Amino acid sequence: MTPSIVAPGATRRRRRDYRLACRAVVEDIAIAELGIERIKPRRGPRKYESGLMAREVPVFCGIVKKEAPRRAVEIGTWWGLSSEMILEMSPDCEITTIDYKDQKVTRLPELGPPDPRINFVIEDSRTVRFPREWYGSVDLVFVDGNHRRNGVVNDTRLAMSLIAPGGLIIWHDLLVPGGDRDLDKGLKSKHKYYVSEYLYNDFPLRVFRVDNTVLGLHWFGS
Ligand SMILES: C[S@@+](CC[C@H](N)C(=O)[O-])C[C@H]1O[C@@H](n2cnc3c(N)ncnc32)[C@H](O)[C@@H]1O
Repeated sequence: MTPSIVAPGATRRRRRDYRLACRAVVEDIAIAELGIERIKPRRGPRKYESGLMAREVPVFCGIVKKEAPRRAVEIGTWWGLSSEMILEMSPDCEITTIDYKDQKVTRLPELGPPDPRINFVIEDSRTVRFPREWYGSVDLVFVDGNHRRNGVVNDTRLAMSLIAPGGLIIWHDLLVPGGDRDLDKGLKSKHKYYVSEYLYNDFPLRVFRVDNTVLGLHWFGS
C-alpha cells in the first residue's frame, strides 16, 4: 500500500504513514559520504536573521567547493549572502540570484555592499525568464525562495528546467514533519515549510538530506 501523505496535526497513525512516505523520497546522507570538507567562508559561519543556519554554512560551502559550478542560479536572494558564498567557493562562477523584493537594502552595514560580480535580478520566480542558453546549462541551483507548497513546486520546476545533466539542485529547509530538525525550526507552531512533502507529491526525485542540516541535494539525472 502506498503510504498516504497527510498534513501535520493528523492522527498518530496517519502521521506515522506520512513519515514512512517521506523516507521513501528523502534519504539521509552523512557528510563523510559526500566526500566534502567543511569550509568556513570569509565571513564565518554566522547565522543572520534569515538564510542558512550557522552549522549549515561550512557544509554548504564544502558542497559548492566540491561541485565547483561554472554557472549557478539562486532562487531567493535575501541579502545575497549565499550567492556570495557560492562565488567565494567557486570564484569563476557566473551567478544570478533572483528575489521579488530587493531585500539587500536592509543588509547590515557591517556586511559592506553586495558583491558586484553577482547578477542580482529583482523578479518573481513564477514569471522570471532566463536567457535561452541558460536552460539546461546551470551546474548549481539553490532553491531557497517561497517555502510554501506552490512556491516550492514552481521553483523546483524552474530548477529542473535550468539544471545541466549531472548538475546539483540544493533545497534549503528540507524538513520532515515530526523530526527534531522541525522542532529546531519552530515547526510546532505555524511554520509549515515541509519541502520534503511537496517534493514527494510532485517530483519523483532522489533527494539526499545532509546530516545535521536541512539541506536537500539532488544530482540531476541520478
Ligand atoms: C530564506 S530567504 C533567502 C535566504 C538566502 N538564500 C540566504 O541563504 O541568504 C527567502 C527569500 O525568497 C524571496 N522570495 C519569496 N518568494 C519569492 C518569489 N516568488 N520570487 C522570488 N523571490 C521570492 C524572499 O523575498 C526572501 O528574500
